[in-house]
Amino acid sequence: MNDKGIKHFDEELKKIKELFSKEVKLVNEISKLMEIKGKYIGRKAGLLTDIIKQLPALLAEERAKIGQEANKLKKEIEEEIDKLSDKISKKRLEFKLEKERIDITLPARGVATGSAHPIIIVRKMIEDIFREIGYSIMDGPEAETEYYNFDALHFPKDHPARDTQATLYLEKDFILRTHTSPVQIRTMLKYKPPLRFLSPGKVFRADAPDAGHSPIFHQIEGLVVDEKITLGDLKGSLEYFIKRLFGNDVSMRLRPSYFPFTCPSAEVDMTCLICKGKGCSACKNSGWMEILGSGMVDPAVFEAVGYDPDKYTGFAFGMGIDRIAMLFYGINDIRLLLQNDMRFLMQFRNSIH
Ligand code: PHE
Repeated sequence: MNDKGIKHFDEELKKIKELFSKEVKLVNEISKLMEIKGKYIGRKAGLLTDIIKQLPALLAEERAKIGQEANKLKKEIEEEIDKLSDKISKKRLEFKLEKERIDITLPARGVATGSAHPIIIVRKMIEDIFREIGYSIMDGPEAETEYYNFDALHFPKDHPARDTQATLYLEKDFILRTHTSPVQIRTMLKYKPPLRFLSPGKVFRADAPDAGHSPIFHQIEGLVVDEKITLGDLKGSLEYFIKRLFGNDVSMRLRPSYFPFTCPSAEVDMTCLICKGKGCSACKNSGWMEILGSGMVDPAVFEAVGYDPDKYTGFAFGMGIDRIAMLFYGINDIRLLLQNDMRFLMQFRNSIH
């Protein structure tokens, strides 16, 4: 019998079993598991394989006994490895599924579409109403000369509107237009009467910004010139416009006023939209709110552009788009219209136009 007796093999098998169960506990990767498989029951060299290879040297009965035990252990090891391999694969799959999990209940990301700015929306609403009754659209520059902005419109040389505190002066005798009225002059110099047009655009004044003032704002000018145009035409046209824009419940009144380029001049008020005429803080309890300035074209202006004041008469009006947009949408700070804050602009996303 060889020196390695049955006891020795018994102990070896026990040691292998213990070592395996200790080592296998720490495994959590397939590659490591395969390494262990090789270490214990690898075909060519493995702790248990080595023992099995030595069996032929034993006596028959010892061989049978040790062989049986060794095979039993081999089977146990194989089963344990298979079990563990399954467990690791399952865990890995669960982890992967969890990581790639898709929450199908999440709402889809919206498609970001652009939208018109409230100033543009309101400008177009106003333009559409006047277009229907025959007005065309005229344009003029934002950088103007004093001649078009003031002189031709009959502003006296010492008129306070020309002051640097009211008007923004640029280089070389240019100013930023303070109203859209210079487009009246430019258009009359270019075309013969009859005329019927609107001219929308940006205007500028040296105002400190606050909730009600902005150094940049928007106006729409209107001018109608023909033979026999009367104050009645002015009133009828503006009443038609105001009712089309704000609804038939709204009334209008003319209040005498003064502009250097119109005579007579009138401030146009409409029923306060907030209190419906009852009187509130927004209309200083009058029930009315001012909506635009207007008047019959002063004959001196016709003379300045070479129109015959004995033949032609006309009316003009000017309104602030920002103010109308604020009334229309209940916006309480004019600065919101210039800041391009997305949180503000998104409110208009579904507006048509
Ligand atoms: N241009 C005047 C203003 O800015 C408004 C106006 C226009 C008044 C046309 C009468 C006629 O205040």
